[in-house]
Parts: sequence; C-alpha cells; structure tokens
Amino acid sequence: NTVYLNGDYLPLSEAKISVLDRGFLFGDGIYEVIPSYFGRLFHFQEHMERLENSLATIRLANPHTREQWLAILTPLLIGTQDQYIYLQITRGTAPKRDHGFPENTPPTVFAMCSPIVPMAERDSGVKVLTMPDSRWKLCNTKAITLLANILHRQEAIDQNCAEALLVKDSYVTEGAASNVFAVIDGVLMTPPKSSEILPGITRDVILELAQKNGIPCKEESFSLAALQTASEIWITSSTREIIPVVECDEKAVADGKPGPVWHKMNQLFQTYKQ
Ligand code: PDD
Repeated sequence: NTVYLNGDYLPLSEAKISVLDRGFLFGDGIYEVIPSYFGRLFHFQEHMERLENSLATIRLANPHTREQWLAILTPLLIGTQDQYIYLQITRGTAPKRDHGFPENTPPTVFAMCSPIVPMAERDSGVKVLTMPDSRWKLCNTKAITLLANILHRQEAIDQNCAEALLVKDSYVTEGAASNVFAVIDGVLMTPPKSSEILPGITRDVILELAQKNGIPCKEESFSLAALQTASEIWITSSTREIIPVVECDEKAVADGKPGPVWHKMNQLFQTYKQ
C-alpha cells in the first residue's frame, strides 16, 4: 500500500512524521476525502475548492496548484474500483511546541488511498441517535480536529446506531461525519450552508440531481420536532454515499423501510457516478 508523504511515494509502514508535527500536537491541520469511481476522482474541482477554503480559514498557504494536486493524487489510485483519497495538510513540524504559528516551517502533506466498502446496511437502512451538537463555530472547515465529532459518533455506536444527528438550538445541523436530508411534508430538505455544517460535496450533487429530476427540494433548516414527522431521513457522505435512516431515537421513520424518494435518488446517484 503506497502512500504520499511530503513529495515521496512510499509504503505505508515507512511513512513517518515527527512527534512535533502540529497535526499531532494541536490538531493543527485540515483534510479532504475525495472518492474515485471508475478510475476518476469524483468532483475533483469542488473538493479542491473546499480544500482551498479550509486552508484559507486556518491561514495556511496552499502548497500546490490544483493541477499539481491532481498529479500527486492520481498515482495513489488502485485500478478502477470504488476508492477514496484521504489528503491531510498540517502546519508542519516546528522546533518546539508553541501555540503561535511557526516561521519558515513547510506544511506536512500526507495522502493515502483506501477502498470504499459499501455499508452492509446500505439498502436496508440504518439507525441514528440525535444529540446536542457540542462542536465549535467553524464546522464549515474540514479541520482534522475532530474530537467532538468522534465523541458524537461513538455515543451513537454505543447505542447500536450508525450515526449521530446533531441538534443545535433545537435545529438539526448534520451528522457527526455526514450531511442530513429529510423528506418533510413531501419536500426534500437539507439545512442551508453556514458555519454550522460542512458543505458536503455529496450534498451538492444530491441537490443538483433533485432539481434536474423534478424532486421538490429546499435548502432550509428544520427542527428536531419536524425531523420526527419526516417520512424519510438520509445521511450522505463521500465514503457512504446516500444512506437511508429507518430508525431515529428508537422510533421507526415512517414504515421503517427506505422510502421511495431515497430509492429514486440512490438510482440517480448510481447512474450519475458513471
Ligand atoms: N466526512 N459533514 C461532516 C461533519 C463530515 O465529516 C462529512 C464527510 C460530511 C459529508 O461531506 P462529503 O459529502 O463532502 O463527504 C458532512 C468525511 C467522509 C470523513 O470525515 O471521513
């Protein structure tokens, strides 16, 4: 398994960084997860745009152009299987631990590729648990600092759920590592982009497919109370695609089976991937 680290391609077991790396000491870095289908990186430009925004937010210079990134990442792909690139950039290894930015320190750039293994429950649906969103105020930044997300996800796993749906001021924001959609009164809804959610690339594709195919949809916040009336709930991400939720807080969503809008959208998405 070959990975990329600071200009070199090497076996995963030989890829090493310093304990003084600011990613390790402070979680001072950002990342991207870019899926690849049929040997092509999916919505590469959109992932690059989000990467640029994340870097700008943490005031880290982008070490490469989009063309250079494409040239760096493409050799990591293995055949044409469904897979994803994990790309991480940290503020590098400074001579000592100090909160302020180090001077003259090159970033640490790491990338690896993993197969996308479809969730076993993909077609039967998953359970989710709602909980108060304990994250910070920069949720639109794809920061590697994911402790709150991890604690949320694990709390859900501990209750035999696949995802935590996060609630802020009684409104649903997103999942611990996914965006959320709900069909409420016949309209497909997802919260609008803001600093409270990560602008998911999968989310954008779904909105575009809904618009093109006459599925009524709205980018509008919905409350937890509204979510409890939804006929369908989905979670979406680059690694899980579109997953139907059939149980929320131990209550069945509608009849407890993936709904017709999900079936339609999943079909549209599978066709679109090609
Ligand atoms: N996570 N919201 C959060 C908090 C996420 O971490 C993710 C993705 C998404 C969905 O974004 P996209 O559709 O661009 O994957 C929304 C990735 C997969 C991860 O952290 O592994």
